[in-house]
Amino acid sequence: MSEIKLIKPSAEYTEKIAEYRAEFPAERERVTYDPSRIPGMDYLEKYDKILDWLQFCENMSDKLTWYMAFRESDSKIVGFIVFRHKLEYDDDDIEFASNFGYSVCPSERGKGYAKEQLRLGLQKAKAFGLDKVRIICRDINIGSNKTILANSGVHVDTIHGEKSGLNVNRYDIQMSINNML
Ligand SMILES: CC(C)(COP(=O)(O)OP(=O)(O)OC[C@H]1O[C@@H](n2cnc3c(N)ncnc32)[C@H](O)[C@@H]1OP(=O)(O)O)[C@@H](O)C(=O)NCCC(=O)NCCS
Repeated sequence: MSEIKLIKPSAEYTEKIAEYRAEFPAERERVTYDPSRIPGMDYLEKYDKILDWLQFCENMSDKLTWYMAFRESDSKIVGFIVFRHKLEYDDDDIEFASNFGYSVCPSERGKGYAKEQLRLGLQKAKAFGLDKVRIICRDINIGSNKTILANSGVHVDTIHGEKSGLNVNRYDIQMSINNML
């Protein structure tokens, strides 16, 4: 795994954002309530033009912050992570709300980027002033469960969404005991 840093998406990265999105197959395994959504790129599915989505991200910056996991060695975006400042800002039922949503592009998986991306994301949440974050993921999503556990996630419970039909694991991460930050 090469070094990555989190940077906010902006117009100069439009082409790279399009390349990231293009790696995701149209028929994705369902990992979010909205199957058209690429985790970490929330609301991009509602826009035809990436520039319009970037403007939306700017407008939402008091509630949500999007970051790209940028690999400096070859200037590639390897991941996307969205930080929701409050659980209320997740657009799902509050019971299923998560402070973070994220993905790693298919060609870069299995290299530790999701774990590092979340570690860096937690640093942002801590700097923002949160002392605890809630993260959820589907029970069958082994990679995501392990990503959270590797970042000191404590399993709270597993809940079933009647509407979505999904079983979801809920985790809390206490910043104070997270020695990876
Ligand atoms: C889930 C996801 C982010 C993992 O990204 P990744 O970069 O491959 O993850 P990492 O390489 O950091 O691996 C994290 C851990 O999960 C394990 N892992 C990753 N993918 C796995 C898989 N498909 N099956 C089993 N284990 C897996 C790794 O071995 C590693 O385990 P370790 O801590 O024991 O070493 C990626 O598969 C993805 O983007 N999936 C689609 C979007 C998604 O599911 N987002 C999360 C929604 S909650």
